[in-house]
Amino acid sequence: MADDKIPATLIPGDGIGPEIVACVLSVLDALGAPFAWDTQLAGMTAVADRGDPLPLQTIESIRRTGLALKGPLTTPVGGGFKSINVTLRKEFELFANLRPARTLIPGGRYDHIDIVLVRENLEGFYAAMEHYMPIGHDNKAIAMSTGFNTRTECRRIIHYAFDYAVKNGRKKVTVVHKANILKALTGLFLEEGRLIAKEYEGRVEMNDRIVDACAMQLVLDPWQYDVIVTTNLFGDILSDLIAGLVGGLGMAPGANISDEAAIFEAVHGSAPDIAGKGVANPLAMLLSTGLMLQHVGRNDLATRLTTGIDRMLAAGLRTRDLGGSAGTRDVTEALVQQLN
Ligand code: NAI
Ligand code: MG
Repeated sequence: MADDKIPATLIPGDGIGPEIVACVLSVLDALGAPFAWDTQLAGMTAVADRGDPLPLQTIESIRRTGLALKGPLTTPVGGGFKSINVTLRKEFELFANLRPARTLIPGGRYDHIDIVLVRENLEGFYAAMEHYMPIGHDNKAIAMSTGFNTRTECRRIIHYAFDYAVKNGRKKVTVVHKANILKALTGLFLEEGRLIAKEYEGRVEMNDRIVDACAMQLVLDPWQYDVIVTTNLFGDILSDLIAGLVGGLGMAPGANISDEAAIFEAVHGSAPDIAGKGVANPLAMLLSTGLMLQHVGRNDLATRLTTGIDRMLAAGLRTRDLGGSAGTRDVTEALVQQLN
């Protein structure tokens, strides 16, 4: 079975996308990874070629493979294009946003960080009905937002977090909420968290934190956290905070997951300021590829990849954004050397 190829969609993307994706492909090749790529367009590259930032052909490819590696996409300014990420999220009901953060370069402000944040991706205030109400001459006197969380979605994302913990040998899931104030919206999330935790008793520990206290503790004592599961808005904020603990967005991988599809991508954008210069740091994209390997059950390859990255960094190789002078190709060559 291990020799069977796994069909997957590849979107090189815009800006530095093609450069860091080329690095990923060389490294996967060296690993003997089992993907059979269907390369597709999205972003500005797709606008130039097809007049559409997310062509139907790309969506159909992902529907067929259920698996995609996506380079960063430049968001077209103006022109009335719909948001690519929102479209993908809706199209494939990508309910789980997985954002792991692990210290890769020791000796920074925070050492030995290893936290996985699971963010609910479809509901909360990001699915809110927003509007203004006028008072007198002021048309925007009152701003209103009505977010919602459904019990079904709370259950699905919390189950996902616990299952992830079981599969990846994690010990604890922390349910983050604001149930003391947003009693309905996030109270439901906590309620379901407590119920679902019972199904995992003896396998995964559960505790809960109020989001503001959690933010403070993440700064004072982040080592108490293992897996965090939370609602959309809190997850957006805390995942960036956690990325900051390990050196910023340049090293942050991500995955958007549903029952139908899984799309893996770096958290950073297309970095137009350095595109084409051969200096982009491919680590976040490589780490996203590691998540993809785990997702398809190839933990062996994911571990070889992350161990290789650790060794390469321990040997002192740094791209420009990390204070060094190595280019993207240097990373590719050094990493391939470090794989065993
Ligand atoms: P950005 O993440 O592309 O760049 C911010 C800064 O970080 C820049 O100075 C850039 O050079 C640097 N940087 C980012 N990734 C890097 C890497 N791998 N190696 C070295 N340096 C790196 O964010 P920005 O400039 O706000 O957005 C640029 C474009 O990317 C926009 O069109 C934005 O909409 C899009 N974007 C796309 C995302 C996606 O497709 N997932 C996510 C974020 C932004
Ligand atoms: Mg965000």
